Amino acid sequence: MKTVPKSPAGLLRPGVRALHGYTPGEQPRVRGLIKLNTNENPYPPAPAVLRAIRKATDGGLRRYPNPTAQPLREKLAVEHGCAPENVFVGNGSDEVLAYLIRAFVEPVAAVGPRSRSRATVQYLWPCYSLYPVLSQIHGAHANPVALLPDFGLPTTAALRSGKKWDFKAALTFVTTPNAPSGRGYDTAELERLCQAQQGAVVLDEAYAEFADADARELAFRLPHVIVTRTFSKAYSLCAQRVGYCLAHPEVVVALDKLRDSYNVNGLGQVAALATLEHLAYYRRNFLRIRSTRERLRRELTGLGWRVLPSQANFLLAQPPGAPAQEWLGHLRDRKLLVRWFPAAEVSRYLRFTVGTDAEADALLKAARRGPRA
Ligand SMILES: Cc1ncc(COP(=O)(O)O)c(C=O)c1O
Repeated sequence: MKTVPKSPAGLLRPGVRALHGYTPGEQPRVRGLIKLNTNENPYPPAPAVLRAIRKATDGGLRRYPNPTAQPLREKLAVEHGCAPENVFVGNGSDEVLAYLIRAFVEPVAAVGPRSRSRATVQYLWPCYSLYPVLSQIHGAHANPVALLPDFGLPTTAALRSGKKWDFKAALTFVTTPNAPSGRGYDTAELERLCQAQQGAVVLDEAYAEFADADARELAFRLPHVIVTRTFSKAYSLCAQRVGYCLAHPEVVVALDKLRDSYNVNGLGQVAALATLEHLAYYRRNFLRIRSTRERLRRELTGLGWRVLPSQANFLLAQPPGAPAQEWLGHLRDRKLLVRWFPAAEVSRYLRFTVGTDAEADALLKAARRGPRA
């Protein structure tokens, strides 16, 4: 007689049982806490965007949203000077990153050891920590290769002589500007890397709006290059989950086949469309954030912190006089939540989001005291 299993654990695929899921930044419910740990925008969406969302919360919610987010694709195409066929929209750029792996990378189990490159997800490390998780979920082979100690890109000659880099990897991720360091990369430098790759290259530009330059033109010029963007950070819409990529039309067709039937929620589409009508509001905020970023960098440097140059809406900085983890506790006691990563390359630093000027003042005040004061 068949017996019902005591627990479903034994029924799960071994790869799923062994998986360590993505660790998101803490979402605390502490009153008065200044949250500088997940690179959210400190400024709210434009008032007209909030009005558009409110207006859309009516009986129309019973209907499915546009399956391909077509009106949004069309507006994004105008914004980026491309065709709607170059744009794919996802439930946050996280979803687009996952679909890109599914589109380009074979699971290890599907290829022999001689074809490992076809099952390889490669990334320059440290970077967005979701890539290894997505790679593991897909059953791919992950190939992390170190950035230079100052988080710069290694040259292709250095990658070649280092032997670890796979020029045939099915998919290579580059976070640009880099997270968690904030370091920006020249388009020419990125192009040299892309030109050397035989597989797909994804330039993750989640923070590009805060940078001096971006590399989106590579997605229109090189058929194997995909640029991902998000409405979360620059456009204050983390909660709405809208991201997209710019790519060759054949990549967009492939992603379209893989996506969930209605992958971009209706209110998200409304919010993103309204956002594109009010870009001047957001551009003013980019300037404010950049100016607060430079002030923080200057003043913390004056207090003995080693602050890395940043092209994003966050700073990575090594605090003086005590280990970063001790500072983490000190700042938390002062109701400032920042991020510390245990990985060896970055464990001596803290990463904090550039907030409002008042939030920067609170951070500077706590920095003047220090944990051992
Ligand atoms: C480098 C990078 N890419 C992508 C994302 C994901 O953004 P989204 O909210 O669009 O999924 C993040 C979020 O932190 C990020 O840091």
